[in-house]
Amino acid sequence: MFSLLHLLILPFLCLVNALTNTTNPPIRQVYTFGPNTFIEQIAVRSNSHILLTSESVPTLFTLNPLLISPNASVLSTFPNATGLSGITEISPDVFALVSGVWDLVNTRATSLNIWTIDLCPPSPVIKHVTAIVNSTIFNGMAAIPGTDLVLAADLALGAVWRVNIRTGAYGIAFSDSLLAPLGTDPGTNLGINGIRVSANRKWVYFANSAQGFFGRVPISRCGEKVGNVEVIASVGILTGVAGVHFDDFALDGEDKAWIATHPSDVIEVQVGKGVVADIQNSTLLLNPTSAAFGRGAERERRTLYVTNGGTFVGDTFELVEEGVVAIDLWKV
Ligand SMILES: *[C@@H]1O[C@H](CO)[C@@H](O)[C@H](O)[C@H]1NC(C)=O
Ligand SMILES: *[C@@H]1O[C@H](CO)[C@@H](O)[C@H](O)[C@H]1NC(C)=O
Ligand SMILES: *[C@@H]1O[C@H](CO)[C@@H](O)[C@H](O)[C@H]1NC(C)=O
Ligand SMILES: *[C@@H]1O[C@H](CO)[C@@H](O)[C@H](O)[C@H]1NC(C)=O
Ligand SMILES: *[C@@H]1O[C@H](CO)[C@@H](O)[C@H](O)[C@H]1NC(C)=O
Repeated sequence: MFSLLHLLILPFLCLVNALTNTTNPPIRQVYTFGPNTFIEQIAVRSNSHILLTSESVPTLFTLNPLLISPNASVLSTFPNATGLSGITEISPDVFALVSGVWDLVNTRATSLNIWTIDLCPPSPVIKHVTAIVNSTIFNGMAAIPGTDLVLAADLALGAVWRVNIRTGAYGIAFSDSLLAPLGTDPGTNLGINGIRVSANRKWVYFANSAQGFFGRVPISRCGEKVGNVEVIASVGILTGVAGVHFDDFALDGEDKAWIATHPSDVIEVQVGKGVVADIQNSTLLLNPTSAAFGRGAERERRTLYVTNGGTFVGDTFELVEEGVVAIDLWKV
């Protein structure tokens, strides 16, 4: 017999079992930056090299994770900006990214610009696409495969913008109360944060940091919303992952996502099941900001690279331990 109490506590107990029963896959340090280089987003090239953006410096970094001790090098530094945010591959080895003059405390920007960087030639070719005059933040960005369109998450407006990388035209593709932040104070002011388009182009997956859930919304080929937002997994005691904040994430190409979660988790979620695993590590996962699977050999494709925003230390709140770690999912 089911009582109301059973209905309330059963899902909780099952999930806690499921979570505690999973073995943490091994995590290893890949690269740590010097102080005050808040690392925001990650993309992986077809040659396995990692691209990293920082909101603290307008520099695109790269490193080769196949080396035993990789070193980050500078690919390019962008003008009239204090940092970079979203980055997404728009055609083979060509990436679109956003630069801005950031107010890091309020997580807002002025002077947003969209660029492309072509990494095929021996020295990268950079093009300015457009300035975005009427948004205060583009956070995550995601290309719609096979089109010139890039979608960008506006966590202040609760909207998804669409930029045509070829023509520079842009505007809001859609907005929704489930994409919005809860308020304007730090802690409540980050609505839709990470964004990825599924390989079949049918869904926009996103995390809403303030509202504490991961979800998806069906889109047309042009990036219009064609159905309701579906909540896939929520933060809270009912799902066994309370007191945490979802950030950006990686999709596995099927029905799972690995969400970089503050302060020290990567949470695996699955469509139809919700939270399925919580990879927690207080020494190697330090305010994770984003995640991406490796590319290349099979082992790389089962390696999840996670960026760490870092932690503040001392009286001056110096930010340290920002960088990238690898979670070897192929070992479990
Ligand atoms: C825990 O994992 C083991 C090994 O995969 C499995 O045999 C067992 O049924 C699991 N237990 C629960 C409670 O899920
Ligand atoms: C973090 O991960 C490393 C490597 O997998 C492991 O050795 C260590 O025990 C973990 N630490 C915590 C606090 O879970
Ligand atoms: C690593 O890269 C940085 C910046 O590009 C450079 O200053 C430093 O010398 C490099 N370190 C090594 C060990 O190559
Ligand atoms: C950068 O700023 C300078 C001075 O305001 C301006 O002349 C230049 O066009 C700007 N460049 C870009 C790419 O916005
Ligand atoms: C933003 O500005 C662009 C360029 O002026 C314009 O095309 C677009 O309609 C504006 N969108 C919004 C939502 O204000």
